[in-house]
Amino acid sequence: PVSGPFVNEPFTDFSLEENRVAMEAAIARAKASLGAEYPLRIGAERIYTAEKIVSVNPGRLGEVVGRVSKADRELAERAMQAALAGFETWKRVPARERAAVLFRAAALLRERKHDFSAAMLLESGKNYAEADADTAEAIDFLEFYAREMIRLSRINETMPLTQAPGETGELRYIPLGVGVVIPPWNFPLAICAGMTSAAVVSGNAVLLKPASATPVIAHKFAELMEEAGLPPGVINYVPGSGAEIGDYLTSHPKTRFVSFTGSKEVGLHISRLAAEAAPRQIWIKRLVAEMGGKDGIVVDETADLDAAAQAIVASAFGFQGQKCSAGSRAIVVEPVYDEIAAKVVALTKRLAVGLPERNCAIGPVIDEASYRRILAYIELGKEEGRLLAGGGPAEVGRAEGSRTEADSCDGYYIQPTVFADVDGKARLMQEEIFGPVLAIGKAKDWREAIALYNDTEFGLTGSFFSSDEGRIEEALETMHCGNLYVNRKCTGALVGAHPFGGFNLSGTDSKAGGHDYLLLFTQAKAIAVKK
Ligand code: SER
Repeated sequence: PVSGPFVNEPFTDFSLEENRVAMEAAIARAKASLGAEYPLRIGAERIYTAEKIVSVNPGRLGEVVGRVSKADRELAERAMQAALAGFETWKRVPARERAAVLFRAAALLRERKHDFSAAMLLESGKNYAEADADTAEAIDFLEFYAREMIRLSRINETMPLTQAPGETGELRYIPLGVGVVIPPWNFPLAICAGMTSAAVVSGNAVLLKPASATPVIAHKFAELMEEAGLPPGVINYVPGSGAEIGDYLTSHPKTRFVSFTGSKEVGLHISRLAAEAAPRQIWIKRLVAEMGGKDGIVVDETADLDAAAQAIVASAFGFQGQKCSAGSRAIVVEPVYDEIAAKVVALTKRLAVGLPERNCAIGPVIDEASYRRILAYIELGKEEGRLLAGGGPAEVGRAEGSRTEADSCDGYYIQPTVFADVDGKARLMQEEIFGPVLAIGKAKDWREAIALYNDTEFGLTGSFFSSDEGRIEEALETMHCGNLYVNRKCTGALVGAHPFGGFNLSGTDSKAGGHDYLLLFTQAKAIAVKK
């Protein structure tokens, strides 16, 4: 495979009729396999279990996307043994050949882009653009980490060690061993592909425990990697419950690392489990954890207010606010506060809520637990702030005036909701909601706005809107987060351009899509040979 310089996969322009038609055709194809059964993939075995995870379309609850086999502890142990065996051969495969698998997988994924996006649209509730960006990001991760592995394998040419007199010295990045990969449902392809492919291209074998809300798309990814030439046992696909197999595998003495993306609560739980050395364990497990965020956009009175309002709305409501990068807070200085709030409300009211397959701006939230949690936060918001837009469930079928049975959809739809006058200490300003809820707060000036922005236990993304260069300089210093943006939205990090990962309780600041990422899945062996 070719490996020129890395470039981001372009997004599809769905304002073009041909692209819309192609996506609709892909959705029709994806619907043909609704309800299919999916096995565990352990080594070369494909195992169908009696107990299943039933994956439903959150936008139309009658639609079963797939019935996915579910591993128990015994099967998880079998998968561990398969991974240990897979690691023994895979670790000897040269870096370039490992990278070649990723390049081939990227090429296959590019060919079937809309099919993957369509499957994701049905399983996670993403609209066309969100699903397309997710698939593009998955392609980016494969292309980027393949190149990164090649770069690391040539480190002695590009960054040679100091050669001690009478010796030849070199550094080799070797894999760690078997890792547990636990990706989230909100970027069901991109983050799953990124976490898994980074571990695998580094020479490790993995137990991939997909998110229970999106196991079908993860299965498609595991299948794709095999088609691209990955030998059996390198990715073992083991869906199952966190309490049953997640904890078991995290605590396993043969687990060398855990790579997790998800909530703060689960991340801290995994961190505790992984820190405890099991009997016969001979290493400190490495933990890569990407957790939540309470990300925000700060706007001062010199900012382009239209651009700021657009960025606030895009960051708060893209994929229904279910991104760790979501801008769920806007902190605005007093002189432009009312104007920004009015612009945000006007833009929010224009967002159509409805079925992802009709490409509505706002789709469903992922499941019933999320739906209930978000609605409870909205009720709390009515006490903590002043409701400006939304404020409850969205009646989708009826609101769109649908006429046929097939048009009606019951799903987890919530109106994009905006609260103003929310105090910095309010729960709405402090807790991650992971839904379409925006809290706007007022600051007397831009420095106080930044102080409010920083008053959080998280530190993932943030934006500063201003046209004053001195203030921008100071904001770059003082806003404390892993991904800081100026005069743009705080979501949509691009692989290679915006290495992604947060501070404090947002995680281990493991920069996905950056040049340091593969170091987390390798260990360096320094070699000195006496001449
Ligand atoms: N990387 C995504 C974003 O920047 C979040 O995971 O929006």
